[in-house]
Amino acid sequence: MLIRKDFLSTFYKLLRSFSIKSRIFLSFLFLITLLLFSVNFLIINYQKNSLKNQYYEGLTHNLENFSLEVVDWLVFFDPLKLEEKVSSLKNLPGIVYVMVVDKNGRIVAHTNPSKLGQFIPVNDSTFKTWESLDNNGIKHFNRPVFKEDFSLGAVRIGVSEADINDFIEHSINTLKRYMLFISGVFLLVALVVAYFISITLTKPLNKLKKSIQKVQANKFEFCENEKLILCKDFYQCKDYRCPSYGKTRCWLNEDSKKWCKSVLKIECEDCFVYKYSCGDELGYVIESFNKMVADLRSYMEQLDKATKEKIKLEKYSAVSEMAMVVAHEIKNPLNSIKAACSYLKTNFKGKVLQEFLSIIDKETQRLNELITGFLTYARPVPLKLEKTQINNIIKEIINLVKPEFEEEGKQIELSLDPSIPEFYFDPYQLKQVMLNLLVNAGDATKKGDKISVATQREGGLVVISVKDTGEGIPEELLDKVFEPFFTTKVTGSGLGLACVEKIVREHGGKVSVFSKKGEGTEFKVFLPIRYEI
Ligand SMILES: Nc1ncnc2c1ncn2[C@@H]1O[C@H](COP(=O)(O)OP(=O)(O)OP(=O)(O)O)[C@@H](O)[C@H]1O
Ligand SMILES: [Mg+2]
Repeated sequence: MLIRKDFLSTFYKLLRSFSIKSRIFLSFLFLITLLLFSVNFLIINYQKNSLKNQYYEGLTHNLENFSLEVVDWLVFFDPLKLEEKVSSLKNLPGIVYVMVVDKNGRIVAHTNPSKLGQFIPVNDSTFKTWESLDNNGIKHFNRPVFKEDFSLGAVRIGVSEADINDFIEHSINTLKRYMLFISGVFLLVALVVAYFISITLTKPLNKLKKSIQKVQANKFEFCENEKLILCKDFYQCKDYRCPSYGKTRCWLNEDSKKWCKSVLKIECEDCFVYKYSCGDELGYVIESFNKMVADLRSYMEQLDKATKEKIKLEKYSAVSEMAMVVAHEIKNPLNSIKAACSYLKTNFKGKVLQEFLSIIDKETQRLNELITGFLTYARPVPLKLEKTQINNIIKEIINLVKPEFEEEGKQIELSLDPSIPEFYFDPYQLKQVMLNLLVNAGDATKKGDKISVATQREGGLVVISVKDTGEGIPEELLDKVFEPFFTTKVTGSGLGLACVEKIVREHGGKVSVFSKKGEGTEFKVFLPIRYEI
Protein backbone atom coordinates (compact mmCIF):
# COMPACT_ATOMS: atom_id res chain seq x y z
CA MET A 1 0.00 0.00 0.00
CA LEU A 2 2.85 2.32 1.03
CA ILE A 3 4.82 1.45 -2.10
CA ARG A 4 1.76 2.19 -4.28
CA LYS A 5 1.32 5.58 -2.59
CA ASP A 6 4.99 6.37 -3.13
CA PHE A 7 4.77 5.33 -6.74
CA LEU A 8 1.66 7.47 -7.28
CA SER A 9 3.22 10.56 -5.72
CA THR A 10 6.42 10.12 -7.80
CA PHE A 11 4.31 9.68 -10.92
CA TYR A 12 2.28 12.79 -10.03
CA LYS A 13 5.48 14.82 -9.44
CA LEU A 14 6.90 13.60 -12.74
CA LEU A 15 3.71 14.65 -14.56
CA ARG A 16 3.78 18.07 -12.89
CA SER A 17 7.31 18.61 -14.17
CA PHE A 18 6.04 18.52 -17.78
CA SER A 19 4.45 21.52 -19.48
CA ILE A 20 0.66 21.50 -20.03
CA LYS A 21 1.30 21.00 -23.75
CA SER A 22 3.40 17.89 -23.11
CA ARG A 23 0.94 16.61 -20.52
CA ILE A 24 -2.00 16.90 -22.93
CA PHE A 25 0.07 15.32 -25.67
CA LEU A 26 1.25 12.43 -23.46
CA SER A 27 -2.27 11.80 -22.10
CA PHE A 28 -3.60 11.56 -25.62
CA LEU A 29 -0.78 9.26 -26.61
CA PHE A 30 -1.34 7.04 -23.59
CA LEU A 31 -5.10 6.83 -24.14
CA ILE A 32 -4.80 6.13 -27.86
CA THR A 33 -2.14 3.44 -27.29
CA LEU A 34 -4.29 1.84 -24.57
CA LEU A 35 -7.31 1.92 -26.85
CA LEU A 36 -5.41 0.39 -29.77
CA PHE A 37 -3.89 -2.27 -27.59
CA SER A 38 -7.29 -3.23 -26.07
CA VAL A 39 -9.05 -3.28 -29.44
CA ASN A 40 -6.30 -5.41 -31.01
CA PHE A 41 -6.28 -7.78 -28.08
CA LEU A 42 -10.07 -8.18 -28.16
CA ILE A 43 -10.25 -8.70 -31.93
CA ILE A 44 -7.40 -11.24 -32.02
CA ASN A 45 -8.80 -13.20 -29.05
CA TYR A 46 -12.27 -13.21 -30.51
CA GLN A 47 -10.88 -14.43 -33.82
CA LYS A 48 -8.88 -17.19 -32.12
CA ASN A 49 -11.90 -18.44 -30.16
CA SER A 50 -14.16 -18.33 -33.16
CA LEU A 51 -11.60 -20.30 -35.27
CA LYS A 52 -11.26 -22.90 -32.51
CA ASN A 53 -15.03 -23.28 -32.23
CA GLN A 54 -15.31 -23.61 -36.01
CA TYR A 55 -12.59 -26.30 -35.99
CA TYR A 56 -14.27 -28.38 -33.29
CA GLU A 57 -17.68 -28.01 -34.94
CA GLY A 58 -16.21 -29.27 -38.25
CA LEU A 59 -14.42 -32.12 -36.46
CA THR A 60 -17.53 -33.38 -34.62
CA HIS A 61 -19.49 -33.11 -37.87
CA ASN A 62 -16.87 -35.23 -39.67
CA LEU A 63 -16.87 -37.74 -36.84
CA GLU A 64 -20.70 -38.08 -36.95
CA ASN A 65 -20.54 -38.76 -40.72
CA PHE A 66 -17.65 -41.18 -40.19
CA SER A 67 -19.63 -43.19 -37.62
CA LEU A 68 -22.49 -43.54 -40.14
CA GLU A 69 -20.21 -44.37 -43.08
CA VAL A 70 -18.39 -47.20 -41.29
CA VAL A 71 -21.62 -49.17 -40.55
CA ASP A 72 -21.57 -51.17 -43.84
CA TRP A 73 -17.78 -51.58 -43.79
CA LEU A 74 -18.02 -53.14 -40.34
CA VAL A 75 -21.02 -55.35 -41.20
CA PHE A 76 -19.29 -56.70 -44.34
CA PHE A 77 -15.84 -56.07 -42.93
CA ASP A 78 -14.05 -54.00 -45.56
CA PRO A 79 -10.57 -53.15 -44.16
CA LEU A 80 -9.51 -51.29 -47.32
CA LYS A 81 -12.36 -48.78 -47.15
CA LEU A 82 -11.78 -48.35 -43.44
CA GLU A 83 -8.08 -47.70 -44.03
CA GLU A 84 -8.81 -45.23 -46.78
CA LYS A 85 -11.22 -43.22 -44.61
CA VAL A 86 -8.90 -43.22 -41.60
CA SER A 87 -6.01 -41.94 -43.77
CA SER A 88 -8.16 -39.13 -45.21
CA LEU A 89 -9.14 -37.98 -41.70
CA LYS A 90 -5.52 -38.00 -40.56
CA ASN A 91 -4.79 -35.10 -42.91
CA LEU A 92 -6.98 -32.78 -40.84
CA PRO A 93 -4.86 -30.31 -38.75
CA GLY A 94 -4.10 -31.33 -35.16
CA ILE A 95 -5.18 -35.00 -35.55
CA VAL A 96 -3.01 -37.37 -33.46
CA TYR A 97 -4.80 -40.64 -34.27
CA VAL A 98 -8.03 -42.01 -35.80
CA MET A 99 -9.24 -45.52 -35.06
CA VAL A 100 -12.19 -47.84 -35.51
CA VAL A 101 -12.94 -50.71 -33.06
CA ASP A 102 -15.44 -53.56 -33.49
CA LYS A 103 -17.99 -54.61 -30.85
CA ASN A 104 -15.29 -56.68 -29.04
CA GLY A 105 -12.92 -53.72 -28.72
CA ARG A 106 -10.53 -54.98 -31.44
CA ILE A 107 -8.88 -52.21 -33.47
CA VAL A 108 -9.92 -52.81 -37.08
CA ALA A 109 -8.51 -49.55 -38.52
CA HIS A 110 -5.89 -47.16 -37.14
CA THR A 111 -3.67 -44.36 -38.40
CA ASN A 112 -0.80 -46.30 -36.81
CA PRO A 113 -0.87 -49.74 -38.65
CA SER A 114 1.10 -51.41 -35.80
CA LYS A 115 -1.95 -51.04 -33.55
CA LEU A 116 -4.19 -53.08 -35.88
CA GLY A 117 -5.61 -56.20 -34.20
CA GLN A 118 -4.89 -54.91 -30.66
CA PHE A 119 -7.75 -54.62 -28.17
CA ILE A 120 -8.82 -51.62 -26.19
CA PRO A 121 -10.43 -52.10 -22.77
CA VAL A 122 -14.20 -52.39 -23.24
CA ASN A 123 -16.51 -50.92 -20.62
CA ASP A 124 -19.87 -49.10 -20.43
CA SER A 125 -18.55 -45.93 -22.01
CA THR A 126 -16.76 -47.59 -24.97
CA PHE A 127 -19.89 -47.52 -27.17
CA LYS A 128 -21.21 -44.13 -26.10
CA THR A 129 -20.69 -40.52 -27.23
CA TRP A 130 -18.09 -38.68 -25.14
CA GLU A 131 -15.20 -36.20 -25.27
CA SER A 132 -12.36 -36.00 -22.79
CA LEU A 133 -8.99 -34.27 -22.34
CA ASP A 134 -6.04 -36.26 -21.01
CA ASN A 135 -2.96 -35.06 -19.18
CA ASN A 136 -0.90 -34.89 -22.37
CA GLY A 137 -3.20 -32.23 -23.83
CA ILE A 138 -4.87 -34.72 -26.19
CA LYS A 139 -8.60 -34.36 -26.60
CA HIS A 140 -10.38 -37.65 -27.39
CA PHE A 141 -13.70 -37.79 -29.28
CA ASN A 142 -15.65 -41.07 -29.17
CA ARG A 143 -18.73 -41.97 -31.26
CA PRO A 144 -20.62 -45.36 -31.18
CA VAL A 145 -21.47 -47.20 -34.43
CA PHE A 146 -25.01 -48.70 -34.54
CA LYS A 147 -26.97 -50.68 -37.08
CA GLU A 148 -30.56 -50.27 -35.96
CA ASP A 149 -30.33 -51.28 -32.25
CA PHE A 150 -27.16 -53.40 -32.57
CA SER A 151 -23.86 -51.96 -31.46
CA LEU A 152 -21.22 -52.64 -34.12
CA GLY A 153 -18.28 -50.85 -32.52
CA ALA A 154 -16.97 -47.23 -32.18
CA VAL A 155 -14.88 -44.59 -33.94
CA ARG A 156 -12.40 -42.50 -31.95
CA ILE A 157 -10.27 -39.49 -32.82
CA GLY A 158 -7.48 -37.87 -30.80
CA VAL A 159 -6.66 -34.19 -31.30
CA SER A 160 -3.65 -32.27 -29.91
CA GLU A 161 -4.74 -28.96 -28.34
CA ALA A 162 -1.23 -27.56 -28.77
CA ASP A 163 -1.18 -28.40 -32.50
CA ILE A 164 -4.59 -26.79 -32.98
CA ASN A 165 -3.44 -23.65 -31.17
CA ASP A 166 -0.35 -23.54 -33.39
CA PHE A 167 -2.52 -23.98 -36.45
CA ILE A 168 -4.87 -21.16 -35.33
CA GLU A 169 -1.94 -18.97 -34.40
CA HIS A 170 -0.52 -19.54 -37.84
CA SER A 171 -3.82 -18.75 -39.58
CA ILE A 172 -4.27 -15.38 -37.81
CA ASN A 173 -0.74 -14.18 -38.52
CA THR A 174 -1.96 -12.28 -41.61
CA LEU A 175 -4.72 -10.69 -39.56
CA LYS A 176 -2.16 -9.64 -36.95
CA ARG A 177 0.05 -7.99 -39.55
CA TYR A 178 -2.94 -6.24 -41.03
CA MET A 179 -4.03 -4.93 -37.65
CA LEU A 180 -0.52 -3.80 -36.80
CA PHE A 181 -0.40 -1.75 -39.96
CA ILE A 182 -3.82 -0.17 -39.31
CA SER A 183 -2.84 0.55 -35.68
CA GLY A 184 0.37 2.21 -36.84
CA VAL A 185 -1.50 4.49 -39.23
CA PHE A 186 -4.12 5.23 -36.56
CA LEU A 187 -1.42 6.04 -34.00
CA LEU A 188 0.30 8.37 -36.42
CA VAL A 189 -2.95 10.25 -37.15
CA ALA A 190 -3.70 10.33 -33.43
CA LEU A 191 -0.25 11.80 -32.75
CA VAL A 192 -0.83 14.62 -35.23
CA VAL A 193 -4.34 15.29 -33.86
CA ALA A 194 -3.04 15.18 -30.27
CA TYR A 195 -0.34 17.68 -31.18
CA PHE A 196 -2.82 20.09 -32.72
CA ILE A 197 -5.31 19.73 -29.87
CA SER A 198 -2.55 20.44 -27.34
CA ILE A 199 -1.60 23.53 -29.36
CA THR A 200 -5.19 24.83 -29.54
CA LEU A 201 -5.46 24.50 -25.78
CA THR A 202 -2.10 25.97 -24.85
CA LYS A 203 -1.91 28.82 -27.41
CA PRO A 204 -4.56 30.98 -25.68
CA LEU A 205 -2.96 30.16 -22.32
CA ASN A 206 0.38 31.40 -23.63
CA LYS A 207 -1.24 34.60 -24.88
CA LEU A 208 -2.84 35.07 -21.49
CA LYS A 209 0.54 34.54 -19.83
CA LYS A 210 2.11 37.24 -22.04
CA SER A 211 -0.74 39.65 -21.27
CA ILE A 212 -0.38 39.00 -17.54
CA GLN A 213 3.33 39.72 -17.83
CA LYS A 214 2.49 42.98 -19.60
CA VAL A 215 0.08 43.91 -16.79
CA GLN A 216 2.87 43.18 -14.33
CA ALA A 217 4.99 45.63 -16.32
CA ASN A 218 2.21 48.22 -15.98
CA LYS A 219 1.06 47.85 -19.58
CA PHE A 220 -2.68 47.33 -19.39
CA GLU A 221 -3.29 45.63 -22.70
CA PHE A 222 -6.20 43.35 -23.54
CA CYS A 223 -5.49 39.72 -24.31
CA GLU A 224 -6.34 38.93 -27.89
CA ASN A 225 -9.24 36.47 -28.19
CA GLU A 226 -9.74 35.20 -31.72
CA LYS A 227 -13.20 33.90 -30.93
CA LEU A 228 -14.40 37.33 -30.01
CA ILE A 229 -16.21 39.30 -32.68
CA LEU A 230 -16.23 42.99 -32.01
CA CYS A 231 -19.19 45.02 -32.99
CA LYS A 232 -16.73 47.87 -33.31
CA ASP A 233 -16.27 46.39 -36.76
CA PHE A 234 -19.81 47.58 -37.38
CA TYR A 235 -20.01 50.57 -35.09
CA GLN A 236 -16.41 51.72 -34.75
CA CYS A 237 -16.68 51.71 -30.96
CA LYS A 238 -13.47 52.21 -29.01
CA ASP A 239 -14.26 52.90 -25.37
CA TYR A 240 -13.41 50.08 -22.93
CA ARG A 241 -15.81 51.57 -20.38
CA CYS A 242 -18.77 50.60 -22.53
CA PRO A 243 -21.29 48.56 -20.49
CA SER A 244 -21.57 45.94 -23.20
CA TYR A 245 -17.92 45.06 -22.78
CA GLY A 246 -17.63 41.28 -22.34
CA LYS A 247 -21.37 40.69 -22.71
CA THR A 248 -22.40 37.64 -24.68
CA ARG A 249 -24.70 39.33 -27.09
CA CYS A 250 -24.49 42.00 -29.67
CA TRP A 251 -26.11 45.29 -28.94
CA LEU A 252 -28.33 46.46 -31.68
CA ASN A 253 -27.15 49.70 -33.13
CA GLU A 254 -30.17 51.58 -31.81
CA ASP A 255 -29.97 50.04 -28.31
CA SER A 256 -26.30 50.75 -27.90
CA LYS A 257 -26.72 54.29 -29.16
CA LYS A 258 -29.43 54.96 -26.59
CA TRP A 259 -27.45 53.27 -23.80
CA CYS A 260 -24.22 55.09 -24.46
CA LYS A 261 -25.95 58.41 -24.77
CA SER A 262 -28.13 58.15 -21.68
CA VAL A 263 -25.67 56.40 -19.37
CA LEU A 264 -22.23 57.45 -20.54
CA LYS A 265 -23.21 60.70 -22.26
CA ILE A 266 -21.20 59.67 -25.31
CA GLU A 267 -22.09 58.66 -28.82
CA CYS A 268 -22.31 54.94 -29.58
CA GLU A 269 -19.51 55.28 -32.09
CA ASP A 270 -17.15 55.69 -29.13
CA CYS A 271 -18.13 52.37 -27.49
CA PHE A 272 -16.79 48.88 -27.63
CA VAL A 273 -19.68 46.59 -28.45
CA TYR A 274 -19.32 42.85 -28.67
CA LYS A 275 -21.33 40.58 -30.90
CA TYR A 276 -20.64 37.53 -28.81
CA SER A 277 -17.69 36.73 -26.71
CA CYS A 278 -15.66 34.02 -25.13
CA GLY A 279 -16.54 30.72 -26.78
CA ASP A 280 -14.98 28.00 -24.63
CA GLU A 281 -13.83 28.00 -20.99
CA LEU A 282 -10.43 29.42 -21.94
CA GLY A 283 -12.22 32.22 -23.79
CA TYR A 284 -14.17 33.00 -20.62
CA VAL A 285 -10.93 33.14 -18.63
CA ILE A 286 -9.45 35.51 -21.23
CA GLU A 287 -12.56 37.69 -21.16
CA SER A 288 -12.52 37.80 -17.36
CA PHE A 289 -8.90 38.87 -17.62
CA ASN A 290 -9.84 41.52 -20.20
CA LYS A 291 -12.62 42.75 -17.93
CA MET A 292 -10.08 43.01 -15.13
CA VAL A 293 -7.69 44.93 -17.40
CA ALA A 294 -10.54 47.27 -18.41
CA ASP A 295 -11.38 47.88 -14.74
CA LEU A 296 -7.70 48.36 -13.92
CA ARG A 297 -7.32 50.88 -16.75
CA SER A 298 -10.29 52.81 -15.49
CA TYR A 299 -9.02 52.68 -11.86
CA MET A 300 -5.57 53.82 -12.97
CA GLU A 301 -7.12 56.69 -14.87
CA GLN A 302 -9.15 57.68 -11.83
CA LEU A 303 -6.06 57.36 -9.64
CA ASP A 304 -4.09 59.51 -12.04
CA LYS A 305 -6.82 62.13 -12.01
CA ALA A 306 -7.05 62.00 -8.22
CA THR A 307 -3.26 62.32 -7.88
CA LYS A 308 -3.23 65.35 -10.17
CA GLU A 309 -6.12 66.83 -8.20
CA LYS A 310 -4.25 66.15 -4.98
CA ILE A 311 -1.11 67.85 -6.24
CA LYS A 312 -3.24 70.79 -7.33
CA LEU A 313 -4.92 70.93 -3.94
CA GLU A 314 -1.59 70.70 -2.16
CA LYS A 315 -0.25 73.58 -4.24
CA TYR A 316 -3.49 75.43 -3.62
CA SER A 317 -3.25 75.04 0.13
CA ALA A 318 0.44 75.99 0.09
CA VAL A 319 -0.46 79.07 -1.93
CA SER A 320 -3.36 79.74 0.39
CA GLU A 321 -1.15 79.80 3.42
CA MET A 322 1.51 81.80 1.69
CA ALA A 323 -1.03 84.27 0.39
CA MET A 324 -2.31 84.96 3.86
CA VAL A 325 1.18 85.59 5.16
CA VAL A 326 2.12 87.70 2.13
CA ALA A 327 -1.09 89.67 2.44
CA HIS A 328 -0.45 90.44 6.07
CA GLU A 329 3.26 90.97 5.88
CA ILE A 330 3.62 92.84 2.58
CA LYS A 331 0.38 94.62 1.79
CA ASN A 332 0.57 97.12 4.65
CA PRO A 333 4.26 98.13 4.18
CA LEU A 334 3.54 98.33 0.43
CA ASN A 335 0.73 100.82 1.05
CA SER A 336 3.09 102.88 3.24
CA ILE A 337 5.77 102.83 0.48
CA LYS A 338 3.16 103.87 -2.09
CA ALA A 339 1.92 106.72 0.12
CA ALA A 340 5.49 107.86 0.86
CA CYS A 341 6.34 107.69 -2.83
CA SER A 342 3.40 109.87 -3.89
CA TYR A 343 4.29 112.36 -1.08
CA LEU A 344 7.88 112.59 -2.36
CA LYS A 345 6.64 112.87 -5.96
CA THR A 346 4.48 115.94 -5.23
CA ASN A 347 6.78 117.69 -2.78
CA PHE A 348 10.25 117.20 -4.26
CA LYS A 349 11.45 118.19 -7.70
CA GLY A 350 14.42 116.95 -9.70
CA LYS A 351 14.55 114.84 -12.91
CA VAL A 352 16.52 111.89 -11.49
CA LEU A 353 14.47 111.79 -8.30
CA GLN A 354 11.19 111.83 -10.27
CA GLU A 355 12.48 108.99 -12.52
CA PHE A 356 13.44 106.80 -9.55
CA LEU A 357 10.18 107.59 -7.79
CA SER A 358 8.28 106.47 -10.96
CA ILE A 359 10.19 103.14 -10.91
CA ILE A 360 9.37 102.67 -7.22
CA ASP A 361 5.71 103.51 -7.93
CA LYS A 362 5.50 101.07 -10.87
CA GLU A 363 7.16 98.21 -9.02
CA THR A 364 5.01 98.82 -5.94
CA GLN A 365 1.98 98.66 -8.21
CA ARG A 366 3.25 95.35 -9.71
CA LEU A 367 3.80 93.88 -6.25
CA ASN A 368 0.31 94.95 -5.29
CA GLU A 369 -1.11 93.20 -8.31
CA LEU A 370 0.86 90.06 -7.49
CA ILE A 371 -0.58 90.01 -4.00
CA THR A 372 -4.08 90.61 -5.32
CA GLY A 373 -3.53 87.63 -7.67
CA PHE A 374 -2.47 85.44 -4.76
CA LEU A 375 -5.46 86.50 -2.77
CA THR A 376 -7.93 85.95 -5.61
CA TYR A 377 -6.57 82.46 -6.17
CA ALA A 378 -6.03 81.41 -2.61
CA ARG A 379 -8.74 83.06 -0.58
CA PRO A 380 -12.22 81.65 -0.89
CA VAL A 381 -13.97 84.75 -2.18
CA PRO A 382 -17.74 84.21 -2.20
CA LEU A 383 -19.47 84.90 -5.53
CA LYS A 384 -21.50 88.11 -5.57
CA LEU A 385 -24.08 87.10 -8.13
CA GLU A 386 -25.88 89.88 -10.01
CA LYS A 387 -28.25 89.64 -12.96
CA THR A 388 -26.15 91.36 -15.60
CA GLN A 389 -25.67 91.51 -19.36
CA ILE A 390 -22.37 89.73 -20.04
CA ASN A 391 -21.87 91.57 -23.35
CA ASN A 392 -21.75 94.89 -21.44
CA ILE A 393 -19.10 93.57 -19.05
CA ILE A 394 -16.99 92.42 -21.98
CA LYS A 395 -17.40 95.79 -23.72
CA GLU A 396 -16.22 97.57 -20.55
CA ILE A 397 -13.05 95.47 -20.36
CA ILE A 398 -12.37 95.87 -24.08
CA ASN A 399 -12.62 99.64 -23.71
CA LEU A 400 -10.10 99.41 -20.91
CA VAL A 401 -7.45 97.50 -22.90
CA LYS A 402 -8.23 98.80 -26.41
CA PRO A 403 -6.14 102.01 -26.29
CA GLU A 404 -3.02 100.14 -25.20
CA PHE A 405 -3.48 97.41 -27.85
CA GLU A 406 -4.05 100.00 -30.60
CA GLU A 407 -1.01 101.89 -29.46
CA GLU A 408 1.03 98.68 -29.89
CA GLY A 409 -0.34 98.28 -33.45
CA LYS A 410 -2.59 95.30 -32.62
CA GLN A 411 -6.01 94.90 -34.13
CA ILE A 412 -8.90 94.12 -31.78
CA GLU A 413 -12.14 92.63 -33.06
CA LEU A 414 -15.39 92.19 -31.14
CA SER A 415 -18.37 90.02 -32.07
CA LEU A 416 -21.14 89.82 -29.47
CA ASP A 417 -24.23 87.61 -29.67
CA PRO A 418 -27.27 89.87 -28.98
CA SER A 419 -29.47 86.87 -28.15
CA ILE A 420 -27.65 86.30 -24.84
CA PRO A 421 -30.05 87.22 -22.03
CA GLU A 422 -29.14 88.82 -18.73
CA PHE A 423 -28.21 86.12 -16.20
CA TYR A 424 -26.69 85.72 -12.77
CA PHE A 425 -22.90 85.84 -12.41
CA ASP A 426 -20.28 87.77 -10.44
CA PRO A 427 -19.46 90.77 -12.72
CA TYR A 428 -16.36 91.76 -10.80
CA GLN A 429 -14.81 88.28 -11.01
CA LEU A 430 -15.86 87.86 -14.66
CA LYS A 431 -14.05 91.13 -15.39
CA GLN A 432 -10.95 89.56 -13.78
CA VAL A 433 -11.34 86.57 -16.07
CA MET A 434 -11.60 88.70 -19.22
CA LEU A 435 -8.75 90.95 -18.12
CA ASN A 436 -6.42 87.99 -17.50
CA LEU A 437 -7.24 86.43 -20.87
CA LEU A 438 -6.83 89.72 -22.72
CA VAL A 439 -3.56 90.60 -20.96
CA ASN A 440 -2.21 87.14 -21.88
CA ALA A 441 -3.34 87.65 -25.49
CA GLY A 442 -1.64 91.07 -25.47
CA ASP A 443 1.58 89.52 -24.10
CA ALA A 444 1.58 86.80 -26.76
CA THR A 445 1.01 89.12 -29.73
CA LYS A 446 3.10 91.72 -31.52
CA LYS A 447 2.46 94.58 -33.94
CA GLY A 448 0.09 93.57 -36.76
CA ASP A 449 -1.46 90.61 -34.86
CA LYS A 450 -5.17 90.32 -34.23
CA ILE A 451 -7.08 89.67 -31.01
CA SER A 452 -10.73 88.64 -31.40
CA VAL A 453 -13.31 88.44 -28.65
CA ALA A 454 -16.67 86.80 -29.31
CA THR A 455 -19.69 85.67 -27.35
CA GLN A 456 -22.23 83.11 -28.44
CA ARG A 457 -25.22 81.43 -26.91
CA GLU A 458 -25.19 77.62 -27.18
CA GLY A 459 -28.31 76.19 -25.56
CA GLY A 460 -28.01 76.74 -21.82
CA LEU A 461 -24.46 78.01 -22.12
CA VAL A 462 -22.69 81.24 -23.02
CA VAL A 463 -19.40 80.67 -24.82
CA ILE A 464 -16.86 83.48 -24.58
CA SER A 465 -13.93 83.15 -26.96
CA VAL A 466 -10.67 85.11 -26.67
CA LYS A 467 -8.56 84.38 -29.71
CA ASP A 468 -5.22 85.74 -30.83
CA THR A 469 -2.86 85.26 -33.75
CA GLY A 470 0.18 85.39 -31.45
CA GLU A 471 3.03 83.03 -30.68
CA GLY A 472 0.86 80.07 -29.58
CA ILE A 473 1.57 77.48 -26.89
CA PRO A 474 3.72 74.39 -27.52
CA GLU A 475 1.61 71.22 -27.36
CA GLU A 476 3.54 69.76 -24.43
CA LEU A 477 2.75 72.84 -22.28
CA LEU A 478 -0.98 72.96 -23.01
CA ASP A 479 -1.78 70.77 -19.97
CA LYS A 480 0.21 73.00 -17.64
CA VAL A 481 -1.06 76.50 -18.39
CA PHE A 482 -3.85 76.30 -15.78
CA GLU A 483 -1.48 75.13 -13.04
CA PRO A 484 -0.73 77.78 -10.41
CA PHE A 485 2.75 79.31 -10.76
CA PHE A 486 3.24 78.01 -14.28
CA THR A 487 4.65 80.84 -16.34
CA THR A 488 6.99 81.33 -19.28
CA LYS A 489 7.31 85.05 -18.63
CA VAL A 490 10.15 86.74 -16.75
CA THR A 491 7.86 88.90 -14.66
CA GLY A 492 4.81 86.62 -14.65
CA SER A 493 3.38 85.05 -11.50
CA GLY A 494 1.71 82.15 -13.29
CA LEU A 495 -1.50 82.79 -11.38
CA GLY A 496 -3.59 84.48 -14.10
CA LEU A 497 -5.04 81.37 -15.76
CA ALA A 498 -5.25 79.51 -12.43
CA CYS A 499 -7.51 82.36 -11.20
CA VAL A 500 -9.51 82.25 -14.46
CA GLU A 501 -10.07 78.52 -14.09
CA LYS A 502 -11.03 78.85 -10.43
CA ILE A 503 -13.55 81.65 -11.03
CA VAL A 504 -15.16 79.89 -13.99
CA ARG A 505 -15.32 76.59 -12.06
CA GLU A 506 -17.05 78.40 -9.17
CA HIS A 507 -19.62 79.66 -11.66
CA GLY A 508 -20.29 76.02 -12.72
CA GLY A 509 -18.54 76.40 -16.06
CA LYS A 510 -15.26 75.33 -17.64
CA VAL A 511 -12.38 76.77 -19.67
CA SER A 512 -10.63 75.11 -22.57
CA VAL A 513 -7.61 76.05 -24.62
CA PHE A 514 -6.78 75.41 -28.29
CA SER A 515 -3.42 76.47 -29.55
CA LYS A 516 -0.83 75.83 -32.21
CA LYS A 517 2.74 76.99 -31.87
CA GLY A 518 3.36 79.93 -34.20
CA GLU A 519 -0.31 80.24 -35.26
CA GLY A 520 -2.16 81.53 -32.21
CA THR A 521 -4.28 80.60 -29.24
CA GLU A 522 -7.96 80.50 -28.40
CA PHE A 523 -9.38 80.32 -24.88
CA LYS A 524 -13.04 79.37 -24.58
CA VAL A 525 -15.02 80.03 -21.42
CA PHE A 526 -18.26 78.04 -21.07
CA LEU A 527 -20.66 79.66 -18.59
CA PRO A 528 -24.03 78.19 -17.66
CA ILE A 529 -26.90 80.68 -18.04
CA ARG A 530 -28.33 81.05 -14.55
CA TYR A 531 -31.75 82.71 -14.35
CA GLU A 532 -32.09 82.50 -10.61
CA ILE A 533 -29.81 82.44 -7.59
N1 LIG B 1 -2.77 83.82 -25.29
C1 LIG B 1 -1.63 83.15 -24.98
N2 LIG B 1 -0.72 82.89 -25.93
C2 LIG B 1 0.41 82.21 -25.63
N3 LIG B 1 0.72 81.73 -24.39
C3 LIG B 1 -0.16 81.98 -23.41
C4 LIG B 1 -1.38 82.68 -23.64
N4 LIG B 1 -2.05 82.74 -22.45
C5 LIG B 1 -1.28 82.11 -21.54
N5 LIG B 1 -0.15 81.65 -22.10
C6 LIG B 1 0.92 80.88 -21.45
O1 LIG B 1 0.43 80.43 -20.20
C7 LIG B 1 1.28 80.80 -19.16
C8 LIG B 1 0.46 81.00 -17.88
O2 LIG B 1 -0.38 82.10 -18.02
P1 LIG B 1 -0.88 82.84 -16.75
O3 LIG B 1 -1.78 83.92 -17.17
O4 LIG B 1 -1.39 81.86 -15.79
O5 LIG B 1 0.45 83.41 -16.12
P2 LIG B 1 1.34 84.57 -16.68
O6 LIG B 1 0.61 85.33 -17.71
O7 LIG B 1 2.63 83.99 -17.06
O8 LIG B 1 1.54 85.43 -15.40
P3 LIG B 1 0.47 86.42 -14.77
O9 LIG B 1 -0.79 86.27 -15.52
O10 LIG B 1 0.37 86.03 -13.39
O11 LIG B 1 1.09 87.77 -14.96
C9 LIG B 1 1.93 82.03 -19.66
O12 LIG B 1 3.19 82.26 -19.03
C10 LIG B 1 2.13 81.72 -21.15
O13 LIG B 1 3.26 80.95 -21.37
MG1 LIG C 1 -1.38 86.05 -17.37
